[in-house]
Amino acid sequence: MSSQAIKTDNSFFEEKVKLRADNLPETDPVNVLDMFHGAGAIWEDVRKKTGRTINVLGIDKKSGMPLIYLQGDNRKFRVDYSHFHIVDCDAYGSPVTNLQDVLKRSRNPLTVFLTFIQTGMGRLPNNLLFALGYTPAMLDKCQTIFNRHGQKKLLDYLWTVGIRNVKMYSTFDKRKSYLCIKINQVADIVK
Ligand SMILES: C[S@@+](CC[C@H](N)C(=O)[O-])C[C@H]1O[C@@H](n2cnc3c(N)ncnc32)[C@H](O)[C@@H]1O
Repeated sequence: MSSQAIKTDNSFFEEKVKLRADNLPETDPVNVLDMFHGAGAIWEDVRKKTGRTINVLGIDKKSGMPLIYLQGDNRKFRVDYSHFHIVDCDAYGSPVTNLQDVLKRSRNPLTVFLTFIQTGMGRLPNNLLFALGYTPAMLDKCQTIFNRHGQKKLLDYLWTVGIRNVKMYSTFDKRKSYLCIKINQVADIVK
């Protein structure tokens, strides 16, 4: 197999739809910020399967995709998360920058869906490693040894930032993880 990662928009499509359909907040309508919108297929299917009223604001860096969405790099939009109940980060890789921005700037209860994939040689993003205490000097010496156990590192990170409500499934080799996390819940704020 080529070492080049193959970017498949919707591998594990049914599983992604089910994770979202099973974890919709009770609000009506449900407002979704879909930061990796692509063709918007997942949320179309969730809408169809649940019959719920779901408003989606999509962002995608590609142009010419179907449906209406904001075109550009999602990291450059300074979104006001208070307009949304759900933030969806269905990335090809590891959307840690997006997650960190949501954690830093959101104040309202949010359900966040994450697709976390260790692609290619499996390099983990520095912002995840730094948040776990690895230093630039350590990474300079030998980055590769710190790239192991990406899924565990992500879960450790979520724990360190106080996230206890995590639902996840993953591929057997743990290289692809699909998560639903709840943040800024009343229980978190009371703690
Ligand atoms: C796995 S696909 C998403 C599929 C989508 N959730 C659906 O329901 O069809 C990932 C998408 O993220 C987009 N993307 C990747 N990096 C991005 C970035 N930094 N900003 C905006 N879009 C990005 C890609 O162009 C691609 O369309």
